[in-house]
Amino acid sequence: MDPRRKDYLATEAIYSGNSLRIGDEFVMHDWERPLIRRMVEDLKLTPDDRLLEIGFGMGISASILQEFRPASHTIVEPHPQVLLQAERWKSARVNVQLHPGYWQQLDTGTQRYSAIFFDPYADDMEAVDDENLRFLQFAAQSLLADDGRLALFCIRPLLPLEYQRVMFEHYRRVEISSVKVAPRDTANPTADLDGHMISVVLHK
Ligand SMILES: C[S@@+](CC[C@H](N)C(=O)[O-])C[C@H]1O[C@@H](n2cnc3c(N)ncnc32)[C@H](O)[C@@H]1O
Repeated sequence: MDPRRKDYLATEAIYSGNSLRIGDEFVMHDWERPLIRRMVEDLKLTPDDRLLEIGFGMGISASILQEFRPASHTIVEPHPQVLLQAERWKSARVNVQLHPGYWQQLDTGTQRYSAIFFDPYADDMEAVDDENLRFLQFAAQSLLADDGRLALFCIRPLLPLEYQRVMFEHYRRVEISSVKVAPRDTANPTADLDGHMISVVLHK
C-alpha cells in the first residue's frame, strides 16, 4: 500500500477464523497457506539468517518463518490493528522485532538482511505491480546483503515480462516453482491456470 493513502490505516481490520479483511477487501485468506509455506521453504532459511518480513497480515508466514529459527526476524507493518495482533503473536518469541510503518518509510542506513519475505497489500493490480517492481529494485540496492534471497508474493500466476526485466537487471538468479491452491471466498487469481500459483525466490 502506498503510504500516501491515508484512508488505509483508519479502515477497520476484521479477523475471522480464516481471513483478514480491511474494510470490505480481503487482505489475506487461509487458502493462501500452501503457497506461503512453499515460499518460505524455497527461501531456505538457516539459523544464521537476518530476516526482514514485509506485512504481518494473519501471521501465517511469520509463524512458518519462525519454524526455521532465523537469528533475527524484523517485521514491518503499518496497520495499527494488525500491529496489535503482531504484538500478541510476538510475546513468547525472543528473536522478533516489530517495525511499525510502511516499507517505503524504512531508513535503510547500513543495515542489510540476508533474507526477505515480501507480502504487502494494495487494492488494485496496477498498484500491486508498481509496488512489487519498486520493491525489487529497492531491496537489491538498499536492503539485501550480497548473496541474499528474497521471496516475493506474486498474485499473478504467470510472471509478467516487466517483472522479468527488473528481476534480471538486479538479481543473478530467479527460482520459480508451481504451487496448487484452492481459492475460496476471494477473487480467484488462478481461474485460467487450474489452481496453480507461483512461488518466486530471487537471489542477489
Ligand atoms: C497479504 S497480508 C500479509 C499476509 C502474511 N504474509 C500472512 O501470511 O499472514 C499484507 C500485510 O501487509 C501490510 N502492508 C500493506 N502495505 C504495506 C507496506 N507498504 N509496507 C509494509 N506492510 C504493508 C498490510 O497491512 C497487511 O497486514
